[in-house]
Amino acid sequence: MKIFIDTANLDMIREINSWGILDGVTTNPSLIAKENTDTPTRVKEIAKIVDVPISAEAMSLDAEGMIREGRELSSIHPNINVKLPMCIDSLKATKVLSEEGIDVNMTLIFSAQQALLAAKAGARYVSPFVGRLDDIGMYGTEVLNQIVGVFFNYGFETEVIAASIRNPIHVLEAAAAGCDIATIPYNILQQMVSHPKTDEGIQNFIKDYEKSKK
Ligand code: E4P
Repeated sequence: MKIFIDTANLDMIREINSWGILDGVTTNPSLIAKENTDTPTRVKEIAKIVDVPISAEAMSLDAEGMIREGRELSSIHPNINVKLPMCIDSLKATKVLSEEGIDVNMTLIFSAQQALLAAKAGARYVSPFVGRLDDIGMYGTEVLNQIVGVFFNYGFETEVIAASIRNPIHVLEAAAAGCDIATIPYNILQQMVSHPKTDEGIQNFIKDYEKSKK
């Protein structure tokens, strides 16, 4: 499974890239606002740091605006794909943009039916939001299983990005479902590294090594 980082913070992107595990970056308007910047400026900066796909979200809600923004964003750098929110206009825009060779990441996906339509319109990625489904008492992971199953049945090449990841179990469930990608916040990536038994084991090895030197 590919690992993307879900952030617009440059230091976090640099740090995770230095771990040797980074396959991509996703941003959204909320993550960009946290950094007090704007999407075109920030994705240009990200593209200078890492050579991986970067999602930049368009803000238009009509197909014509999405197509215009999509062309503008993708012209910033070849690694940039355009995030569009799932709706009828974004399906129309995806059709046009994908035929022009511009990758679309269809975001705010909450059902396999939505993912099926996005794939048929030509989306390169779909982003089902696991955590936000859990938030409303639904089983987010189940939607991942359904989407992966539907895409497998019909041979869609659209990649499934498990998004809205809130804990390391979500990552495990995304991998078990067969998602192509999980986009993961920085703090969750750090949590995935740690295990109390690893820390305990390191401390014990150091203690025994010190003893053996005496
Ligand atoms: C990623 O593409 C999404 O923008 C992100 O994962 C949303 O996560 P949240 O539900 O924690 O805001």
